[in-house]
Amino acid sequence: MKQEILQRALERIELLATVSDAPEGLVRTFLSPANREAAELVMEWMEGLGMEVCHDVGGTVRGILGGSADAKPLLLGSHLDTVIDAGKYDGALGVIGALAALEVLRDENVVLPFPVHVLGFSDEEGVRFQSTYLGSRGVIGELESWQLEQRDMDGLSLSEVLENEGWLDDAETIFYDESSSDGYVELHIEQGRVLEDADEAACIVSGICGQVRLRVVMAGQADHAGTTPMDLRRDALTGAAECVLALETMAREHSPLVGTVGQIQVHPGASNAIPQVAEFTVDLRHPDDEALEHHLGELRNAFDAIANRRDLDFGWEIVQQNGAVDCDPDLTKILLASLESVTGAHGMLPSGAGHDGVILSTVMPIGMIFVRCQGGLSHHPDEYAEPDDIAAGIDILVEFLKRWKP
Ligand code: GLV
Ligand code: MN
Ligand code: MN
Ligand code: MN
Repeated sequence: MKQEILQRALERIELLATVSDAPEGLVRTFLSPANREAAELVMEWMEGLGMEVCHDVGGTVRGILGGSADAKPLLLGSHLDTVIDAGKYDGALGVIGALAALEVLRDENVVLPFPVHVLGFSDEEGVRFQSTYLGSRGVIGELESWQLEQRDMDGLSLSEVLENEGWLDDAETIFYDESSSDGYVELHIEQGRVLEDADEAACIVSGICGQVRLRVVMAGQADHAGTTPMDLRRDALTGAAECVLALETMAREHSPLVGTVGQIQVHPGASNAIPQVAEFTVDLRHPDDEALEHHLGELRNAFDAIANRRDLDFGWEIVQQNGAVDCDPDLTKILLASLESVTGAHGMLPSGAGHDGVILSTVMPIGMIFVRCQGGLSHHPDEYAEPDDIAAGIDILVEFLKRWKP
């Protein structure tokens, strides 16, 4: 690949990382001003490649590069939203890397015999609504009524947000079903340290593990911190703390189960008042759906028992659940051949992180490429991938595009 194409991709990753809703650190959540600004930048880059560009009301962008009109398109892309205080590569690499791969083909005068659609999804992380993949769910027409009623931290429902903050001007419908395409391929950083330990630049993904996200509420009684004896308290936060530790113990004892409480809110939230309400999230994942379901049941029983023993009211709501997904064998075969031709490796890895392919897999075959990231660190501002590894990822995508037959 020409250095110039790689340099441009790296510069775009840096530039996108400056588009943030926060004065410090990178944050872009569903339909936020920064998320839209990032989408506009990406649309400009797509136009620069001669693509036919649009966005939908939910802020997902798409660029289409023609090819033979009667062939089904191949889909490439990733997400443009981020977690809070995010890294630069999670999501951005898949969109910018796809555009770079098309630049390489243009530079080599390769005209593909099929159209390519590059997608930048507006929500994969699910930070705003907990309910994740809103961008990809939108493009397969799968935003269900219960999801439209989910509320963000400000109490706004998803349907209200789409109505009031939706990207209405010039919005188009982006829609895919079973007959639309025979493949979606995403380039992403590994977000783990297996590649680094194996001294490999890249690998192909075998599948994406299942996950459940919950909102849990423990409710007790607020009271005076100085006058209420310890044995008379109904402290919601100490109950929640016990739940957090029960989750950690369960996951430690049942690898590869992983469980995380990433958010907790305490009311009334004064240092001299006993917490009346503690509301927290749970993210629970396992590559095996039955095992995940089993542990979910056990967790609920454990939380229930903690609440009962402490005389707390207990609420439990599943805000997101999806099963494990396998990458498509045919796509994967071509991806593996492409990997081998670029790096000489043939490694495969399952993904513990969620990706838009989970949703797209319900209507088309999916495949993924992982590139190494430093120390496996992700969802952190120090997330880093070496330019050579990014180049390898883009080259694998290029090789794949040359080998793919719709
Ligand atoms: C997305 O990064 C997720 O796996 O939660
Ligand atoms: Mn991601
Ligand atoms: Mn992520
Ligand atoms: Mn007082």
